[in-house]
Amino acid sequence: MFKINDNYLKLPGSYLFSTIAKKVEAYSEANPGKAGNIIRLGIGDVTLPLSKAIIERLHSAVDEMSKKETFKGYAPELGYEFLRTAISVNDYKNRGCSIEEDEIFISDGAKSDSGNIGDIFAQDNKIAVCDPVYPVYVDTNAMAGRTGVYNPATEKWSDVIYMPCTKENNFCPEIPAETPDIIYLCFPNNPTGTTITKEQLQVWVDYALKSGAVIIYDAAYEAYISTPGVPHSIYECEGAKACAIELRSFSKNAGFTGTRLGFTVIPKELECGGVTLHSLWARRHGTKFNGAPYIIQAAGAAVYTEEGRRQTGEQIAYYMNNAKIIREGLEAAGYEIYGGTDAPYIWLKTPDNMTSWEFFDYLLENLNIVGTPGSGFGPSGEGYFRLTAFGSLENTKKAMERIKAGDANI
Ligand code: MLT
Repeated sequence: MFKINDNYLKLPGSYLFSTIAKKVEAYSEANPGKAGNIIRLGIGDVTLPLSKAIIERLHSAVDEMSKKETFKGYAPELGYEFLRTAISVNDYKNRGCSIEEDEIFISDGAKSDSGNIGDIFAQDNKIAVCDPVYPVYVDTNAMAGRTGVYNPATEKWSDVIYMPCTKENNFCPEIPAETPDIIYLCFPNNPTGTTITKEQLQVWVDYALKSGAVIIYDAAYEAYISTPGVPHSIYECEGAKACAIELRSFSKNAGFTGTRLGFTVIPKELECGGVTLHSLWARRHGTKFNGAPYIIQAAGAAVYTEEGRRQTGEQIAYYMNNAKIIREGLEAAGYEIYGGTDAPYIWLKTPDNMTSWEFFDYLLENLNIVGTPGSGFGPSGEGYFRLTAFGSLENTKKAMERIKAGDANI
């Protein structure tokens, strides 16, 4: 008789953003008159359409698929060279990081890669995560049987090292007392919207090199950095090529949440007992993945053209203007806020000692605004709440007006 992977049974509840979607749906069904009034600032999903340069390249790539001479079947295993070269030059070499194109693996997004990367590691590795954290890292390790037992009272797994990120440490994790094997870091941070300096990141790289740990660095939000001295890539740090994997996405910088494109960088010098992680990921990629579609990779390369860069830059500026409106609106309403200057997320302290979910219900029911409860990202997120800057300008302004006016004015 077949057996299931019963690690799935240990997972608490459903995926955070599925839970939120269900709650919003239930509210809309119960209050049909209010459904059209709901402003969604919960999941970090973009709202601007793909920029002109990207759409034009998508169209021309579709046309190529219609002709015998230019039709493309399976993509090369690592991804098309034109895209990997554009990434290597623009995202790395131009920033002084010597990442070669054959160290870049094109994929269908950073979410899949951050979940799948666990395939190349032994089950008995101990992971360390920031708390709060993007739930995919912990949930996928739980699915792989790497996290021990979940304790609903503490909302923690027995075999996970949690690194609290609180206002006391400026939301920057400290080196844990217990030595981890795999360290997940995400900067600019989801969910707190805060960043790390190059010096602080160098401390982590030095620690990983000394302790023999690997860092999985999620840089999905790097395009939102405007503060000098905040690293865009972990490879800006000395020695990082020997201890770090970097995950990148086209979702947030260029609006590919619905078109799916990302990449993972595994430098060839990253080894374990003489085996390169690059070779393992290449084996995994070749076996389990047939590549992101040609038309999407072609559209991805358009992001690096002059027009593409200018247009996606304008979109980022649009979202960061929303972030500013949210920051100013919340501040004017007396909230304690963090993030939102180098990231599209604003992290706020819930008022009147409300729990994160109480505040979620309050906002949904009284102001018809959807956000994300901080506790959904981990126990240290309790008492906090995340708003995203990815809404429309109009809705962002409206949401802040509602928050400033309180429940009376919707
Ligand atoms: C989020 O809201 O945290 C992100 O949109 C999730 C994701 O990128 O998968």
